[in-house]
Amino acid sequence: MKIINSISELKATVKQARQADMTVGFVPTMGYLHEGHLSLMYTAKKENDFLVASIFVNPLQFGPSEDYAVYPRDLERDAKLAEQAGVDVLFAPPEAEMYPQGVQNMNTYVDLKGITDKLCGKQRPGHFRGVATVVTKLFNIVGPDYAYFGQKDAQQVLVLKKMVQELNMNVVIRVLPIVREVDGLAMSSRNVYLEGPQRQAALVLYNSLCQAQKLLQQGQRNAGLIRDTISQLISQQPLATIDYVEIVDLQNLQPVEVITDAVLIALAVKIGKVRLIDNLLWEE
Ligand code: PAJ
Repeated sequence: MKIINSISELKATVKQARQADMTVGFVPTMGYLHEGHLSLMYTAKKENDFLVASIFVNPLQFGPSEDYAVYPRDLERDAKLAEQAGVDVLFAPPEAEMYPQGVQNMNTYVDLKGITDKLCGKQRPGHFRGVATVVTKLFNIVGPDYAYFGQKDAQQVLVLKKMVQELNMNVVIRVLPIVREVDGLAMSSRNVYLEGPQRQAALVLYNSLCQAQKLLQQGQRNAGLIRDTISQLISQQPLATIDYVEIVDLQNLQPVEVITDAVLIALAVKIGKVRLIDNLLWEE
C-alpha cells in the first residue's frame, strides 16, 4: 500500500490505474479506523480493481465548540489496518493541502437546501455543508467509479446521494449496513472517549432502537408512541441526555405521525460529553 499526501501525486497514481483499465473504488474516512470503516474497504476491494481510501479530519465539518482538535488520530495504526483491508492507496493530505487558502477563506461551498437543517443539521449548523464540500473535493481529486459510505450516518448518505444526483457527479454511491460491537453499540471513532460506566450506558441507543423495532414488528404504526417509548427508555439512563429522537420520512427527513412508508428512526444522544448517533431503517 502506498501512502500519499499530495493531491498531484494522488491524481497521477489513479491516472495510471485508469490507464490500465482498472475500476476505482473510494472509501473516505476521518481515520481512527474500526470495523465499520474496514467493512467499507473490504467490500470496495471486492467490487473494484483499485482501492483508494482517505484519512482526513475535515475542519470544515466541525462546529467551533466541537471536538476537531481532540478528534482521535493515529495514522500509523490506520495505515496497517487499511493495508490489511486491501487498500492500494491511502490518501492522507495535511490540512494545508486540502485548504491552502485556509478554511476561513473558502469561497466555494456545496450547500444542500432542506435536508441539511434537520436531525444532526439542527444541532450542527454548517456540518453538512462541510461534509458535502470536502466529499466533492475528494471526488474531484480521486475520480472514483464507486464510493462507499456507512448507513451509520444515515443523513450524510442522503445528503451525498442527492448531491451526486443533482450535480450529475460521475460516481455511484454504495451504502453498507451499520457495524456493531458484540453487545450492539454502533462502532464509532468517538467510542474511545467513553469512560467507565459510560460504555455500558451507551447501549441505551441500540437497546431503545431494538424496542422500537419490536413495536413495529407487533404492528404499531403510531410514530409518536414509538418515539415516546424510545425517549422514556433513554431518559431512564442517568448518564444519557437526548439531543434528538425522530421518526422521519426517508426521502425528505420530515417527521411522520403514522408510519405508512419507509422511515428512519434516528437518535443522537450524549453520554456525558460524548455525542453518539444511531438509527434504524424501517421499510414497509
Ligand atoms: P467517518 O466518521 O470517519 O466515517 C467514514 C465512513 O465510515 C462513513 O461513511 C461512515 O458512515 C462509515 N462508518 C462509521 N461508523 C460505521 C459503522 N459503525 N458501520 C458502518 N459504517 C460506519 O463520515 C465521515 O467520516 C466524514 O463525514 C467523511 C464522509 C469522511 C467526510 O469528511
